[in-house]
Amino acid sequence: MASAFPSRGLAVDGVPVADLAGALGTPCYVYSAAAIRDAYRELDAGFDDRAHAIHYALKANSTLAIVRLLRGLGAHADANSMGEVDVALRCGFAPHEIVFTGVGKSRDELERAVMLGVHAINVESPGELDRLDQLAAARGVQARVALRVNPDIDAQSHPHISTGLRDNKFGVPIDLATGLFLDMTRRPGLRPVGVHIHIGSQITTLAPLAKAAEAASALARTLVSAGVPLEQIDFGGGLGISYDETPVPDRRAYVRTLVEAAGDIGLTLAIEPGRSIVGPAGLLVSTVVDVKHVPGGRRFVVLDAGMTELMRQALYGAFHRIEPVVPREGEAVPCDVVGPICESTDRFARDRAMTPVEVGDLVVVRDVGAYGAVLGSTYLRRPLPPEALVDGGTFTTIRRRQTLDELLQLEV
Ligand code: LLP
Repeated sequence: MASAFPSRGLAVDGVPVADLAGALGTPCYVYSAAAIRDAYRELDAGFDDRAHAIHYALKANSTLAIVRLLRGLGAHADANSMGEVDVALRCGFAPHEIVFTGVGKSRDELERAVMLGVHAINVESPGELDRLDQLAAARGVQARVALRVNPDIDAQSHPHISTGLRDNKFGVPIDLATGLFLDMTRRPGLRPVGVHIHIGSQITTLAPLAKAAEAASALARTLVSAGVPLEQIDFGGGLGISYDETPVPDRRAYVRTLVEAAGDIGLTLAIEPGRSIVGPAGLLVSTVVDVKHVPGGRRFVVLDAGMTELMRQALYGAFHRIEPVVPREGEAVPCDVVGPICESTDRFARDRAMTPVEVGDLVVVRDVGAYGAVLGSTYLRRPLPPEALVDGGTFTTIRRRQTLDELLQLEV
């Protein structure tokens, strides 16, 4: 997507980043529609003619225009809160195209999901099954349930985004699942429709994903032979992307792994990808606001974007490539690229080799389409940044910059 544009520097699908920054101001987010389409289609193609559903994980990026774009491609939705369910509905998804996930759903949320008739509520505990059963039975309906199982598999990802170990708060131990499913078939308010599994995010080797898929498929086979009327296996999300250009498994290979694990089981195969669809499609565009060299010490490049716009570096020490939009001549030297926030974790990179930059230069932070804008905050009363979607050589502002008045609207 972002490629060199003679003389004007980096461009996104033919639109110079300098023009985008000029129109939106910085910091701003820019996404490539083409990159999102390509990623979605690669996942989709991996399933071949197997019955499948790609539930886009809205948590990765739920800006309305991005969600609508994915719906247009045939995606279904994975919502992790009632806010995300409402976003999905507003973007045109029917309730039966939405799965509702979440480790702690309130009574109101469960009730709304039941009454909407979502495709599946991914249930996380025996207690939640009880609450859901009572709530649905009292209303004379059946909740469609996929039980999230915890297979005790190490995703080999960052511990903060690993969810498949017994120690993690997610799902029910897989060895308890058969009993819970059989119990569900006797409950008036529950209709068990699926096995759900999700062992973590930014997983860059197929082995743990394959292992989890095999565990979920084996369970589904047992349940089907025991007469549980399952419709689907939901393998969750988790496929990683390359932030530093080291190779990662491609999307088709990932899907083929899941298809192979499922074997000839006659169920719909569902996935909940977020990052692998939108991650590489986004750039954060920022302006250098200061450059300072501590004599005999560090060289700091201070940006107008910080952890308020992109939290990943502060939360996970995440690596993102950073590049000047128009590179200057000169040798690359180690720099700390930092934000303007009064926290030392507000640092995009430490000792990163950067060619010379000057105040006023534009830089981009790459691969921020997932878990970028959505994790933004208004700390220091910094309004949320704008977002643009580039498509077919032109761009649309899909979210304008928040104003201070809007930020203060809720207050007396
Ligand atoms: N399904 C469930 C149940 C999930 O919890 C998640 C992500 C997904 C699907 C989508 O996973 P993906 O395909 O995007 O890996 N903020 C972190 C990532 C948190 C992921 C949370 N759950 C980050 O910036 O790396």
